[in-house]
Amino acid sequence: MIAGAGQAGGRAAEALRARGFQGAITVLGEEAHPPYERPQLSKAMLHSPDASVTYIKQARDWSDVLNVRLETGAAVIDGDADRRTVTTADGRCFIFDRLLIATGTRPRKLAALEGSGIEIQYLRNVEDALRFRRSVQHRSRIVIVGGGVIGLEAACAAARNGCRVTVIENETRLLARAFPPLVSDLVAAKHRSHGVAFVFGATVTGATLAGVQLSNGETIEADLVLVGIGVEPVPTVAERLGLPSQGGIAVDACGRTEASDVFCAGDAALQWSRCHGRAIRVETWANAQNQAISVATNMIGETKAYNDPPWFWTDQYDLNIQVAGDMLDSDHIVRGDERSGKFSVIAMRGSDVVGALSVNVAKEMAMLRRVIAANARPSRADLESPAYDLRAALK
Ligand code: NAI
Repeated sequence: MIAGAGQAGGRAAEALRARGFQGAITVLGEEAHPPYERPQLSKAMLHSPDASVTYIKQARDWSDVLNVRLETGAAVIDGDADRRTVTTADGRCFIFDRLLIATGTRPRKLAALEGSGIEIQYLRNVEDALRFRRSVQHRSRIVIVGGGVIGLEAACAAARNGCRVTVIENETRLLARAFPPLVSDLVAAKHRSHGVAFVFGATVTGATLAGVQLSNGETIEADLVLVGIGVEPVPTVAERLGLPSQGGIAVDACGRTEASDVFCAGDAALQWSRCHGRAIRVETWANAQNQAISVATNMIGETKAYNDPPWFWTDQYDLNIQVAGDMLDSDHIVRGDERSGKFSVIAMRGSDVVGALSVNVAKEMAMLRRVIAANARPSRADLESPAYDLRAALK
């Protein structure tokens, strides 16, 4: 039984069949869609009026090819670990032998805006993306709350459509959770060159139909507010199964929770990360996919630890930025010339390479990911030299 029909749920079901599991598989998903790819919701879907949803598989292939029972529009809202059941919002009860919780995360709400009358949007699912795409074609003044990946990719689409865009970020710089200051500044400059304005160190405290009020006393006129202030795990099922949230659902290296025969993968799973030196939730497409595939194999009796370093990318204008591992609380080495617009930043803690960020050097990132995954220890001097071939670190 798989609760959640997103990237993690879909890939886990596929992996179970690929590994030869022949028993019954049921996937229960809240959304009306079969599992689909989310990265394009804030990228291609916003930029191109023709871009459509990319499904992991066509709806009928789940049953006809994989013999998977996929129930869409079936939010799992309850569970009982002793009776081994989960219950959907429409009152149906399903029995499981093994359960994968892949219910993911949902956007954090900005309470200050509720009931203010101004149009508020979030960007998490297909309907959100289609709504925002229509809005950027018609709206002229958009306030975006949150200068993270979602806010900035949305800002990019809105600016390209000629909207007047202001991003409100409560930290003093963009993407502070994952980027070093050097790259935050580069991204801000790129957005400004496309007309995007920023307010840092402030948040939205209220709104009227005409615009938003900020914590610094400013008022900004707006037709629409898009909120991208992070996500939080969908708590219900895990709590009902006796797995209280610890900022996520705690799992071991194989994706096992504290409840017998209950596993978790994707955005909601709280798992040890060597790069971070602590347990974290990894909210990325790659993690949802690869962790779920790994956990699925553990569900059918193998023992396979998952320890891929976290990795994600963002596309903004002509910038492709990729981040692997952990960039915070570390020493940074810049590789290449940042003025050329193509460079990487490597994060070191002692002699460990714990993270890397690439700007328009995707090939180099492919190598850096391997260096991090292998826990290789090239010297700082080697890493600083653009002539140093990273493959040497893997020998
Ligand atoms: P985020 O955590 O990347 O960024 C949220 C930003 O909002 C942060 O900069 C934070 O300081 C700021 N913030 C928080 N509260 C605020 C407030 N009250 N007022 C003003 N600013 C505030 O989260 P974001 O951008 O919402 O992304 C959500 C999810 O999107 C990710 O967690 C992940 O699941 C997914 N994702 C998207 C990617 C992409 O689009 N390229 C890549 C990887 C993941």
